[in-house]
Amino acid sequence: MSKVVKIAEISNYAGEEVTIEGWLYNKRSSGKLRFLLVRDGSETIQCVVFKNSVSEESFMDADKVTQESSVRVTGVVAEDKRSPLGYELQINTFEIIQLAHDYPITKKEHGTDFLMDHRHLWLRSSQQYAIIRIRHEIIRSAREFFDDRGFTLVDTPIFTPNAAEGTSTLFETDYFGENAYLTQSGQLYAEAGAMAFGKAYCFGPTFRAEKSKTRRHLTEFWMIEPEVAFFDLNDDMILAEEFVSHMVQSVIKNKQKELQAIERDTQKLELVKLPFPKIHYNEAVDILKKNNIDFKDGDDFGGTDETVISDQFEKPVIIHHYPAAIKAFYMKRDEQNPEYALAMDMLAPEGYGEIIGGSQREDDYDTLLGRIKEHNLSEEAFKWYLDLRKYGSVPHSGFGLGIERTVSWICGLKHVRETIPFPRLMQRIYP
Ligand code: 4AD
Ligand code: MG
Repeated sequence: MSKVVKIAEISNYAGEEVTIEGWLYNKRSSGKLRFLLVRDGSETIQCVVFKNSVSEESFMDADKVTQESSVRVTGVVAEDKRSPLGYELQINTFEIIQLAHDYPITKKEHGTDFLMDHRHLWLRSSQQYAIIRIRHEIIRSAREFFDDRGFTLVDTPIFTPNAAEGTSTLFETDYFGENAYLTQSGQLYAEAGAMAFGKAYCFGPTFRAEKSKTRRHLTEFWMIEPEVAFFDLNDDMILAEEFVSHMVQSVIKNKQKELQAIERDTQKLELVKLPFPKIHYNEAVDILKKNNIDFKDGDDFGGTDETVISDQFEKPVIIHHYPAAIKAFYMKRDEQNPEYALAMDMLAPEGYGEIIGGSQREDDYDTLLGRIKEHNLSEEAFKWYLDLRKYGSVPHSGFGLGIERTVSWICGLKHVRETIPFPRLMQRIYP
């Protein structure tokens, strides 16, 4: 056995003999030749087995190897201009580590339920592989964005005693005889972080008992939430657009192969340049009316409304100043017009809809206490949150970006279920 290398680094070994460990992706035979596509997680390479160049045992193994069997191959790295990788492997030794029997995902068309039931295997398919690699780049560049700007990571708890985003979508659990809830958002704790670190962000899984079976809703999803002291709504919107633009540019720069694998129209992504359009809630309502959408002024936008609005723009659009009545208790009202909250959402283009929700936060103790009471929330549970308005309260703002909806848009997918390795949906908790 020669040096074991990763296929992605194969160009460093042209003309040398190397060993690759991986899985059989595909196979084709022609006379005394076997063409085996082997993937190792980093890349895929064509391995050529010529009957006269290998032992009888190796050739027999190459002959009987099945899709997704694990294999170890040794051969010489040869240039191959026709292959996307630029290299192939001329095999000297071929060995099966474990022979796979009846791999369930074949070249034929499978239904979504079947593929979702086999999600643990489906991740190996080229498109799913590309999507998860792009997800990784989105998360990497998201962290990079905040880390490079002096934000401190403040991890927030998953077990919480209170609701952050309304009580209708809480997952409840027993916590040693007391009620606890799985977090819907780390925001309230990130606010404590902003008062300690100036600029803070949290990033983790969040949970919502969403009873909607839409292409945008998961019950468990990942949210990244910056929170900044001495930031107003306008600062918040600028941070949001710079952040989203940074992630898109990073994917375009670093994940070209993956974007090609899923046939994403990257020209549409190239258009995502600063600044993004910013419109008042009332202007968004006008768009709906112009498009003959039946919409009641003052309501929140539904999935279809968001699609119609975001379809008007080539870039993500930010909608600000929503009616306070439809927004969360913690949002600060506009002093000039208290019917409106200092809130903003960002809708992704191509009909994808909301990817960000954020606002300036109420920073006055008495006003916030009043809101907590109005919303029938427990004053006791929010005592610590009120403290933040008692000890050095300052204007502050933040937002939350849903990773899966962002992946869905950047990859151009129809449904969020393919944007996370193991999706949790109302009707799915397996595998
Ligand atoms: O708009 P939301 O509810 O805002 C908050 O939770 C704020 N506390 C965030 C903050 O200001 N720190 O959710 C934020 C984002 C949405 O824009 C969406 O991208 C995503 O979270 N999201 C979901 N993604 C997948 N499935 C669901 N069920 C989602 N619910 C929200
Ligand atoms: Mg929202």
